[in-house]
Amino acid sequence: MLQILNTLQEQVLTKLPAISTQEELVVYKNSIFGKNGELTEILKGVKDLSIEEKQTIGKATNDMKNSLAAAFDIRSQAIDAAEVEERLASEYTDVTFPIADTGIGHLHPLTQVIRQVEDSFTRMGFEIRESMEVTNEYKNFDAVNIPKSHPARDMQDTFWLEGIGNVLATHTSSMQNEIYKTHDLPIRVVIPGRVFRNEDVDATHENTFYQVEAIVVDKGISFANMKYTIRTMLSDIAGKEVKIRLRPSYYPFVEPGADVDFSCPFCDGTGCRICKGTGWIEFMGCGMIHPNVLREGGIDPMVYSGFAFGFGLNRLAMIKYGINDMRYFQNPNVAFLRQF
Ligand code: PHE
Repeated sequence: MLQILNTLQEQVLTKLPAISTQEELVVYKNSIFGKNGELTEILKGVKDLSIEEKQTIGKATNDMKNSLAAAFDIRSQAIDAAEVEERLASEYTDVTFPIADTGIGHLHPLTQVIRQVEDSFTRMGFEIRESMEVTNEYKNFDAVNIPKSHPARDMQDTFWLEGIGNVLATHTSSMQNEIYKTHDLPIRVVIPGRVFRNEDVDATHENTFYQVEAIVVDKGISFANMKYTIRTMLSDIAGKEVKIRLRPSYYPFVEPGADVDFSCPFCDGTGCRICKGTGWIEFMGCGMIHPNVLREGGIDPMVYSGFAFGFGLNRLAMIKYGINDMRYFQNPNVAFLRQF
């Protein structure tokens, strides 16, 4: 009997390495250990042995059975390991590998414009701070010279949040105070961000849109510095030199304040559909930062001066891409988005 078992063991040990999948292994194991398996059949003979034989041979067969079972386990582990190896080799992904241009998806037109604006400011030495979407009454209004009773609060219809005077930022100017308080001088910061106004939505008004604020504070900053910065940025974005003109205007946080028009880059000022025949595009607000605003930010207006300007990015994208309805920006309309 031992003889037969030895032959079986040899057979199994030569066959096992040739088995490469768990499925095959299970089938094979069954053919040895199963109910009618070869080993089981042989072991059935043990009961016919004499008592002495049972003691010696019985133990030997048991050992043999255990060592065969162990051989199967080892093979099973080896198969698992080989599978892992193979998957590692065949499914390896180089996440740093540049992908081919699949034509699937691209940046949203607003994101493209934000990046162009940021590029222009970065080249001029500005740093970028993103605007907070949730702010408070103090930063959005009081700190930028719009006290409670001030009619200018009505200029911007506000989404008030429940509780402790929190609001959704109605303009990126809500970031000014914090920056004055926390930033070392001089300050040259550009602040893109999402702002919210409780307005009726139409082709030129949205309740949610993007603005960019730029602020500069240093000793001896003048209106001329502001004009230069604005013209440089607008020329960068238009891709050609534009002219600007400033019209006196009122914003509580600047004095003097102005509105900026730039010469229409589509017709170079001769008049077209985009500039409605005027040759100029009305674009944004600007001015020298009001002394009250600097003071509230902990900056002495007798020593330092600065300018600020702010504009709507949606409007910039509309001009740049000839989009005639602001509502498209928040609309996941693929036919619209594919055009940019
Ligand atoms: N905060 C103003 C607005 O939302 C824009 C502005 C910013 C005007 C800075 C002047 C200076 O309309």
